[in-house]
Amino acid sequence: MRKLIIDCDTGTDDAIAILAAANCSDIEILGITSVNGNVSENHVSANNLNLCEYIGLEVPVCHGAFVPLYSGFQNTEDMTHGATGLGTIVLPSAEHHSFDPRIASRFLYETAMACHGELELLVTGPMTNIALAIIQYPDFALNIRHLYFMGGSVIGGNVNTNAEFNIWADPEAAHVVMMSGIKLTMVGLDVTLKAIMTKEDVSALRKRNSRTSNLAADILDFMFERFARGGENVIMHDALAAAAALCPECMEYESVWMDVERSGDYTRGHTFADLRGRFGNPPNVRAAMRLDNDRFRAWLVSMLVK
Ligand code: RIB
Ligand code: CA
Repeated sequence: MRKLIIDCDTGTDDAIAILAAANCSDIEILGITSVNGNVSENHVSANNLNLCEYIGLEVPVCHGAFVPLYSGFQNTEDMTHGATGLGTIVLPSAEHHSFDPRIASRFLYETAMACHGELELLVTGPMTNIALAIIQYPDFALNIRHLYFMGGSVIGGNVNTNAEFNIWADPEAAHVVMMSGIKLTMVGLDVTLKAIMTKEDVSALRKRNSRTSNLAADILDFMFERFARGGENVIMHDALAAAAALCPECMEYESVWMDVERSGDYTRGHTFADLRGRFGNPPNVRAAMRLDNDRFRAWLVSMLVK
């Protein structure tokens, strides 16, 4: 059984990724770690704890970094995910679970060592916790089998014309991860902007009428309403990163050498992919470049209606 930790800034699309992964029989989720991103860490971690109790996912939930490595960035009112991070959805507060006492980076390290090199990571927010684990524990990176992340873009951006939010929020952390030697699969905007759900998908979820499928349908409905108000479309950024790990055949990938721009008034947070091999470095990232969205949607719905 594959072993996975999800490090996330829950977040509406992070929640969909967790719901799908929790229903996937190919993996054992060993924990959820929280990071400042879409909303502040206290909201993110509360969302993770409440979500896990709500769906019966009995795993450790950890607090994590409340600011990036080198800046004080914290999202206040986030148009995309709302004030609490789950849009208009209010989950019951967890009554029977509390946070694991370990901070994310320590939990990540201890779990990685206990898994003897078999631990995989799904990272769907800024990479602050992962970078801290790499920096604090010299043998952490050597014990990660594969890290799948939603972030960056070979072409384009969503914070501005050339930076994607997760990388832009903590570019120094992303640089540490990219230089770590960990096997990396990047699911960036090149594919996630095409990972759009439909009203028919919502109907299929409502028809199943389970706690997971109804919550997922509520989140998608919030996203449709947001889109109608001029906000982001019903895009499954983070669930697509989960698919890279759990349904890899719905995408095609290219291996490239990549680094992150950390300076520059207009370019900070840009993920530079050396597609022409100008710098002569061996590839360090396998980047998803093409998506079969029908295949992805079918997989995601199949996970959410289990
Ligand atoms: O740019 C999209 C990413 O930023 C997603 O992970 C979303 O949840 C936000 O964290
Ligand atoms: Ca996210």
